[in-house]
Amino acid sequence: MTTSFAQEGDIVLLLGKDKREFMFRLRTGAELHTHRGVIRHDAIIGHRWGEQVKTHIGYPYLLLQPSLDKLIRGIRRNTQIVYPKEIGYILVKMNIAPGVRVIEAGTGSGGLTLALARMVGPEGRVYTYEARPAMQALARRNLERLGLADNVVFHLRDIAEGFEEREVDALFLDVREPWHYLEAVHAALRSGGFFGALLPTTNQVSELLAALEQAPFGFVEVEELLLRAYKPVPQRLRPEDRMVAHTGYLVFARSLFVPTPIADHADDAPRSTNDEDV
Ligand SMILES: C[S@@+](CC[C@H](N)C(=O)[O-])C[C@H]1O[C@@H](n2cnc3c(N)ncnc32)[C@H](O)[C@@H]1O
Repeated sequence: MTTSFAQEGDIVLLLGKDKREFMFRLRTGAELHTHRGVIRHDAIIGHRWGEQVKTHIGYPYLLLQPSLDKLIRGIRRNTQIVYPKEIGYILVKMNIAPGVRVIEAGTGSGGLTLALARMVGPEGRVYTYEARPAMQALARRNLERLGLADNVVFHLRDIAEGFEEREVDALFLDVREPWHYLEAVHAALRSGGFFGALLPTTNQVSELLAALEQAPFGFVEVEELLLRAYKPVPQRLRPEDRMVAHTGYLVFARSLFVPTPIADHADDAPRSTNDEDV
């Protein structure tokens, strides 16, 4: 629930004029040590969001609630995470909403898991698969720290062994060779469900497209997102000098209904007791 004031247990973002940022959870009795002085957490608790709080030497910081974008960028990580610009698009593209059941692999540091968990809410579920125990432990800690772990089922498993769930609404793969797992993906998705993958190179995209052509998927799309930030100065509005030029390619597809073949049982059908040869 959003309140007007910062409270014990809230995750806060402090922004300095020097563009330095600090993100942490408020704990009674704790202190934040900055290069511009010390702030006691008790001196922050009770302040309004959007207010200034000052260090012991009077340096001001703006007190804000961090956005999901900031939370994702701020997680502890041992892997490349999915960037917020892709995450936002993945969420709308794959219809991720409260109550949805979604599978993802690999969990990695839990960047995408975090956004999925917040979006599906307590009524939905994120089933996340990771092959490496240390990675899973890191992601679990990241989700627990933000109070979202209850919306997530963590599987420690190589997805080459398949997925446990069936009839899920959406499935996203952030692994090196997603084309190996399409049979398992199709088995886990409901008919018409959303499949998505993120790949850093075009040759990986080609491999996945070739595999999708051979599998029961349709409405295939390949997309790339470029995000350019601007210097927010009204008199000299222009882009920032540097940008992240490449993150990854997104591939989306829909799972198709495959009718169960009607078996030819003519030879093994039970015979009627009235058959002449009984
Ligand atoms: C790029 S990271 C995923 C990052 C994650 N999406 C995030 O936003 O933090 C890829 C992860 O997939 C895991 N992985 C790769 N192949 C896998 C497989 N076959 N089964 C399960 N996990 C796998 C790796 O161990 C690694 O942690």
